[in-house]
Amino acid sequence: MMALSWLFISGCVIAVPVCALTAVSIYLISVRKKYSHIPGPPRDSFFLGHIPTFQKYLKQGKFFSEMAIEFIRKYGHVVKIEMAERIIVITADPQSIRELMITGNHSKSKAAYEKLGFLFGERFIGKGLAAETDQKVWVWRRALMNPCFQKSYIKGLESAFNTEIDLLINKLAGLADGKTQISMLEEFNHLTLDVIGKIGFGMQMNNVENRTEPSEYTKAIKLALGGVSAFLRDPFMKFKYSQWKYIADVKKAMKTLRVLSKQSFDERKKQIERGDYTPDDILNFLVKMKLENPELDGEVILDDITTFFLAGQETSANLLSFAMICLWQNKDVLERLKAEVSDVVGDKHYISIEDINKMEYLDMVIKETLRLYPPASNTFRENKTDIEIQGYKIPAGTSIMMSTFVSSRLEEFFPDPLKFDPERFNPAENRILSYTYFPFMLGPRSCIGKDFGVIEAKMILSKIVQRFNFEMDPNQSFDIEESATLKPKGGAFCSFTLCDS
Ligand code: HEM
Repeated sequence: MMALSWLFISGCVIAVPVCALTAVSIYLISVRKKYSHIPGPPRDSFFLGHIPTFQKYLKQGKFFSEMAIEFIRKYGHVVKIEMAERIIVITADPQSIRELMITGNHSKSKAAYEKLGFLFGERFIGKGLAAETDQKVWVWRRALMNPCFQKSYIKGLESAFNTEIDLLINKLAGLADGKTQISMLEEFNHLTLDVIGKIGFGMQMNNVENRTEPSEYTKAIKLALGGVSAFLRDPFMKFKYSQWKYIADVKKAMKTLRVLSKQSFDERKKQIERGDYTPDDILNFLVKMKLENPELDGEVILDDITTFFLAGQETSANLLSFAMICLWQNKDVLERLKAEVSDVVGDKHYISIEDINKMEYLDMVIKETLRLYPPASNTFRENKTDIEIQGYKIPAGTSIMMSTFVSSRLEEFFPDPLKFDPERFNPAENRILSYTYFPFMLGPRSCIGKDFGVIEAKMILSKIVQRFNFEMDPNQSFDIEESATLKPKGGAFCSFTLCDS
């Protein structure tokens, strides 16, 4: 009897894993069969697919979009990647990008955005505007929010932009001894957090004036976004004991951000209910939206507040840091930009949106910076029906990635792609091929805060080049770091002198 029991137990110990492996193998084969006709690199592991391939790229200091660009160059404008059971199709084909982002009304990919919304099981940006994957719900909510970002609203922010930005300008003026090294990535992070806090949410955060190092919120944003990237790099990290402490820290950071959202919401709600004066800002808009539409889930409003804080801060700070690097590396461009700023605003400190709109070269510089260094480079759609890309059938329900980083660095779309050349965007020449450049994405799900972000960035950059000369520390890294967004790895350290000194 005893011997029989042992035999049974040993049989189970062998049979259960064998059956499980067989079931997983059959599942992988059946999922992958539907995509076998689509080109792509050979996989390194049957079970993990291209996860080990990606790990190899990471070890070489490269990030996901750099791997994607190599595959696109090698296999053509449509390639597939297998991340264990998950298939990602990447396309740089302009016509399919048009269909996927603009004309086809495809929703965002659940596989990508639900992970972003609820990272490691913790609600992060949840079902906020950027992560909502139900297209019908999203259409309704975006229509409610669009008025908040109209040009007339942005125009009303001119004075507040000037006030906030001048705090950084004054701080830099105090440090402009030609020696003090300042991380402009940190400074821009502080400034853009103050700007979105003050202008969007009526909060006086005082990061620029008070901080010499990152605030609790900039640290939380950094950690939470780092968590997104870490998860994308290694979807199995939650099963690894060595990662548990890091995951706990990421979850804590996400909670910190949501607590801030909740506090701002509650406070503003009370003010509105008491009939107090409240500024006409993004927060007012969101709180009133909830009060007027009680059926809206309160958690979703917190998702939105968290989304706006993140989306409105990191992206602009990264863009500005890259712009400083590009200008320092291309002195001729910097000189031309300085000349334009001097022509349009002279030495007046208050810069209006009308002034900004007159600066054509500044616009070209920002566009070219976004071509080479798009802070938010990838988007994912889920095709609702089978579609064809360059003759390859893509089954309905596929996660399809489009990357402005990839498309904008392809020689066939942008000759000599690594050259920083704002002239590509000279409006008189119309050299940009459609659907090859999309730093704010295209179509209905493009960035709602584009005008806000661009005007803010242009105003900051023009004030800096108007007042200062700067040098960068040549020993820092000028590589790109991917941490959900793309940012300069070395922190963009600069030293400043005043122009008239
Ligand atoms: C230079 C600055 C900015 C860049 C490069 C940028 C880029 C982008 C990109 C690429 C997307 C699409 C993301 C995706 O498809 O997953 C996006 C969406 C979004 N952005 Fe921005 N953004 C910037 C500034 C801002 C600002 C200042 C705000 C708010 C104040 C903002 C709010 C949003 C929101 C809410 C969405 C989601 C829109 C939707 O799905 O309806 N962004 N942004």
